[in-house]
Amino acid sequence: MFVHRRRGWEIAPSKATPEAVVLGRRGLIGAAAGAGILAASARPAGAWSLLGGSKAPPVVLKPLTAPRNARYDAGRAITDEHEATSYNNYYEFGMSKSVTDAAAALVSDPWTIEIAGMVNTPRRIGFDELMKQVTLEERVYRHRCVEAWAMTVPWVGFPLAALVKLAEPLGSASYVKFTTLADTKTMPGLRQSWYPWPYTEGLTMQEAMNELTFLSVGMYGKTIPPQDGAPIRLTVPWKYGFKSAKSIVRVEFTDQQPLSFWQQLQDSEYGFWANVNPDVPHPRWSQAEERLLGTGESVPTRIWNGYGEYVASMYADKTKERLFV
Ligand code: MTE
Repeated sequence: MFVHRRRGWEIAPSKATPEAVVLGRRGLIGAAAGAGILAASARPAGAWSLLGGSKAPPVVLKPLTAPRNARYDAGRAITDEHEATSYNNYYEFGMSKSVTDAAAALVSDPWTIEIAGMVNTPRRIGFDELMKQVTLEERVYRHRCVEAWAMTVPWVGFPLAALVKLAEPLGSASYVKFTTLADTKTMPGLRQSWYPWPYTEGLTMQEAMNELTFLSVGMYGKTIPPQDGAPIRLTVPWKYGFKSAKSIVRVEFTDQQPLSFWQQLQDSEYGFWANVNPDVPHPRWSQAEERLLGTGESVPTRIWNGYGEYVASMYADKTKERLFV
C-alpha cells in the first residue's frame, strides 16, 4: 500500500519546472481533417523501445478541427498551448511534470478499445472505426487538478454518451470503468512496481451519460499529444483531473463501483467522487484557490469547477457520500 512515497503532484508548484516542449509542430502534416480524423498522433507501432535506450523521434500531430460548441463557454482565457501541453501528469512516463520526451514513445496508432462487461456484445473497436461513428466537436473546458493548478483547454472530441450508446450496456450496469494503456516496453513508469498499474478510473452510469462528460481525441486543433493522453482520453471537467484517464484501452460496464488507481493508493485523499469544491480541503492542502497555468494568477476555486448547473443535481440524494475528496 502506497503511503510513504511522495507523488509528483505533491511537489510544490514552485518546485515543478516545466521543460520546453519538443513537439515537432512546424512539421504538421495533412489538411485540416474536420471530423474525418482516422489515425491519431503519428507514432508507428513498434518503431523502437524507450527501454532500449534510444530517444524517440519528435511526435508529429495531425490537424484536427471541429466546430466549437458555444454552449460551454469557459468564461476565461484559453491557456497558452505550450503551457498546457508541457505541464502534465502521466505517471506511466514518470513522476515529473515534464514527460513530453518520454511520452513520445507512446504507440497510439493502431489503437483498439475493448468494450467489456455488462454489454449486449463484448467486442473490440478500432480507434479509426470509432471515429467514423461519432461526430466531433470542440469544447473549451476548465481543467482543475487536485494539486490546485488549472488550465482552460479547447478539446476536440465527442460525448462519452455516444460511446455508451454504441456499447449497448445492459440495464443493470450502473458504473463504467476505464482502463488505460500499460505497456512495459514504452512506459518506464511501470517499473515503479508499488503503483497499482494499469491506471484505472470510474464513473457512475449517470455521470458517464452527463452531457459534459467528454472523450477527447484532440486539443488546440490537433490530435492529442502523447503526454496528454493520445489517442483518446476522458475529460470530466467538474472533477479533479485524476478522474480524466488518459490513453484508454478498455471501457467496462459493471454493477460494482470501480476502485481507481489513486483510490487504491490513498482513498482518504483521492476518492471515487473527487468533485471540485473550494470548501473541502485536500487533507494536506487548501483547495480554496487555483493557480492558472501560464498567467502567474491565482483565482478562487468554484464548486463543481463552475459546472454546477449541469451536474449538481446528480448528487442531490448522495448526502452521505464523500463527494469532494
Ligand atoms: N491518466 C493516466 N493514464 N495516467 C496518469 O498518470 N494522471 C491524471 C489524469 N489522467 C494520469 C491520467 C492526473 S493526476 C491529471 S491532473 C490529469 O490526467 C492531467 O492531465 P493533463 O496532463 O493532460 O493536464
